[in-house]
Amino acid sequence: MAHKKTYYVTTPIYYVNDAPHIGHAYTTLSCDVLARFKRLDGFEVKFLTGTDEHGQKVEKAAAVAGVDPQKFTDDVSANFRKLAEVMNFSFDDFIRTTEKRHKISAQALWDKLVETGNIYLASYSGWYAVRDEAFYTEADLKDGPDGEKLAPTGAEVEWVEEPSYFFRLSAWEKTLLTFYDEHPEFVMPQSRRNEVISFVKGGLNDLSISRTTFQWGIPVPENNDHIMYVWLDALTNYITAVDFPDQKSIDYKTFWPADLHMVGKDILRFHAVYWPAFLLAAGLEPPKRIFAHGWWTNEGQKISKSIGNVIDPLVLVRNYGLDAVRYFLLREVPFGNDGDFSHQSMVRRLNGELANDLGNLCQRVLSMIAKNCSGEVPPHQDFLPCDLELIKKGSAMLVIMREQLDYQKFNRALEEIWSVIGEANRYVDAMAPWALRKEDPNRMCTVLYVLAETIRYIGLVVQPFMPDASSRILDLLAVDPTKRGFKDFDAALIAGTSLPMPEPVFPRFIEDGQTT
Ligand code: MSP
Repeated sequence: MAHKKTYYVTTPIYYVNDAPHIGHAYTTLSCDVLARFKRLDGFEVKFLTGTDEHGQKVEKAAAVAGVDPQKFTDDVSANFRKLAEVMNFSFDDFIRTTEKRHKISAQALWDKLVETGNIYLASYSGWYAVRDEAFYTEADLKDGPDGEKLAPTGAEVEWVEEPSYFFRLSAWEKTLLTFYDEHPEFVMPQSRRNEVISFVKGGLNDLSISRTTFQWGIPVPENNDHIMYVWLDALTNYITAVDFPDQKSIDYKTFWPADLHMVGKDILRFHAVYWPAFLLAAGLEPPKRIFAHGWWTNEGQKISKSIGNVIDPLVLVRNYGLDAVRYFLLREVPFGNDGDFSHQSMVRRLNGELANDLGNLCQRVLSMIAKNCSGEVPPHQDFLPCDLELIKKGSAMLVIMREQLDYQKFNRALEEIWSVIGEANRYVDAMAPWALRKEDPNRMCTVLYVLAETIRYIGLVVQPFMPDASSRILDLLAVDPTKRGFKDFDAALIAGTSLPMPEPVFPRFIEDGQTT
């Protein structure tokens, strides 16, 4: 039997110090689209997300809330699950770093690093930013507005002096550079890869990987006075979820190394430098790709709790509808770049590209079929070159999208679909099927068939992006739910199939916040 194609995609695990916001929704959405696309394309998929529940940042947030950290993390983690439900994320596993399976895995990775001589005990003195959960040297810091020292990210820093275990990161510099060289697509986009390489070329210091001044974390196996550094703990989640340390397990053998760790640009270094170094040092394979996406601003302003402009994805979904939000986030900016959220561009895209371009195409064609072809897929005669051209464009989308999504070019994939939608709308105008009704009804049927078939192609490729709207479109064409995978991409509509009464697929957004 042929070996099944597999795909393992992960989101970062989210800190539970705070409520979910648009950034979290964005990272997971991009993974959801890939997971759905690959499943439709016949892959066995594992899509992992979850919550990062240890460390000083979470311990502090729990203290501020006056709640025990476990209770606190239980509550906030549940909010992330709720977000996943509202956004219709199709994850296969939701990991929490406070789970027993994860403690076992993180401690096993630690043991391997000890066995291989990569860990030593010394003491750390330097700066630490709780917000970033990151160590900084004096040279990294910048001056704040009141002369205070700040991390390069703008986070507050505190001076830390304590006994600490260290990971011999400096010893892995050359191996990492060779690894990047041999795997030119390990870090993407290219500009991020260049940043990573120049950071490593600048020289790596050994990394402090344990703390002693707080409690909330996984104890170091050989010395319970030490808590594992939260990033070492958190990164390990990606192998915990495939049963590490059981490297013989079916999941480990099927899915490791992961195909893609999706991350925001702020956490690239942890994933593209520290994580492969830990794995290589432990004799494990690094993942195949780290993709760093950009950040969203809100109406041109940095999103921050203190400014009070945090975008709650649940509110967005309530205002604009889920499919529109999913579409907007992946269409608005080339994936990898920063993007700006604005109400105006959201409404422009919703009304222009969804309600007008796609919605009207479906509505026009399906209501003409309902009225003039007794509500059945019309029969067709021989196709003319212009018919074949449109059908060919529809059918070619899949191959193009495969390539684009393999490089995380979500906006390009959507542009491709919308260019076929544009062609189809121009074809309706040029063929004017309404005028053919009397003079050449057979030709009218052929034109409507070509359009229905093009809409079927569009409905199929839109599925990963807009699961609800696409299933409405495919229902309106009576496409058998078992024939919506890409292996049936070219299983054309059958004349005479009876169709349900057409209904609008996308509401228009009107300014008082109502949709119609
Ligand atoms: N817990 C770590 C990840 C550990 S992974 C082993 C963490 N968590 S986080 O909750 O702070 O951030 C998670 C993701 O949200 C990151 O990928 C980050 O880039 C993303 N975003 C946070 N704010 C964002 C925007 N304003 N815009 C886009 N994404 C942003 O980091």
